[in-house]
Amino acid sequence: MPLALKNKKVVLGVCGGISAYKSVELLRLLTKEGAEVYVSMTQNAKQFVGPLTFETLSGRSVYDEVFDQNSAASMEHIRAAEGADLMVVAPATANMIGKMAHGLADDALSTLAISFSGPVLVAPAMNDKMYSHPAVRANIEILISRGVKIAEPETGELACGTTGQGRLADPGSLMNEIKKLLLEKADLESVNILVTAGPTREPIDPVRYISNPSSGKMGYAIAEKARDRGADVTLVSGPTHLPQPVGMRVLSCQTASEMEALVLEYFPRADVLVMTAAVGDFAPESVLKEKIKKRDKEALHLKLHPTKDILLEAGRLKTRQMVVGFAAESGNLIESAREKLREKRLDMIVANDISAPGIGFQSDSNQVTILTPDGEPECLPLLKKTEIADLLLDRIRNARSGKA
Ligand code: CTP
Repeated sequence: MPLALKNKKVVLGVCGGISAYKSVELLRLLTKEGAEVYVSMTQNAKQFVGPLTFETLSGRSVYDEVFDQNSAASMEHIRAAEGADLMVVAPATANMIGKMAHGLADDALSTLAISFSGPVLVAPAMNDKMYSHPAVRANIEILISRGVKIAEPETGELACGTTGQGRLADPGSLMNEIKKLLLEKADLESVNILVTAGPTREPIDPVRYISNPSSGKMGYAIAEKARDRGADVTLVSGPTHLPQPVGMRVLSCQTASEMEALVLEYFPRADVLVMTAAVGDFAPESVLKEKIKKRDKEALHLKLHPTKDILLEAGRLKTRQMVVGFAAESGNLIESAREKLREKRLDMIVANDISAPGIGFQSDSNQVTILTPDGEPECLPLLKKTEIADLLLDRIRNARSGKA
């Protein structure tokens, strides 16, 4: 039978607590399913279980010192954390939860946690009074708001002799959570997705440019969700203030023609192009080398010329690729989007009404309608851009596999 977690890299963080012995069992279950496990322990964890146990079962040295004599081992773990599919902290103490919530990094495990940008599962284990303390609750809320999954501790007899909620979730149920996180949506494995995001910026002179208020959030959400679902992602990004995502190829550009060059370079090897970028339609005919002076000028006349329509070009060039566009409309949403779908030979277009208040460009949410050449328009409710990203990727996956 194939191993369910083959080729999956998991960082297992172990904190100090009596339940650290259960992490040994968890490690055993993970490796039995084929996962590559990189263990990191806090100094307190070593009071409960020796690193040798974890080293023997994982077949790798344990990362427990930031400034290790054995720097090869630390580098191996830092690289593993960069490319890992999941980080599991079990047991997670109140202290580690606090550090993760507030970005503190004063030991090996908290340093790994802050340098990891993939999915994280935290399994708290502590005394029930600590677990219900408002400070711990607030820190857990912070982690949840960042998308961290919490494996709720069980209720039962605690190490301190009392009974309450605080026992580390049992390794079997942790494995179920881990499998859910790792396997449920690995449905875009080896699909090559090219995503564009953000605005373009057309210089007028050395200090001025023409651009638009696109934040890049929609494109980045699609790129990150596609990565989480196993896709090989290339993100071509105009200038944004968003942190650079990891686990994908990120190519930065400024102007529409730079974006065009990158898209056309990577398009031939892509399976899917998702063009969320708000590409500027016009650029100054020439860029002045010197700053334009206001003196003696009553008006400034700029001559703009149209930029190339990148999506139109991709639609023309496509062979096996699926091409998905976005449409920013301020009226006649469906008709205008349908026209773009037809004109640019798209397989799908996501239309949004940019005149509606509180959604679109800079916002974390949007309300979009998805159109395909044959189907009825699908009007989605107001959703977070990360949720729209997942739903759109579901539609792309279905269309690629020939499902409605
Ligand atoms: N697009 C593109 N290259 C351009 C302009 C737009 O690839 N030079 C892409 C956008 O990324 C988007 C789609 O075309 O996926 C539609 O963009 P939109 O701005 O809504 O429409 P335009 O085609 O530019 O037409 P108009 O501005 O007249 O509505």
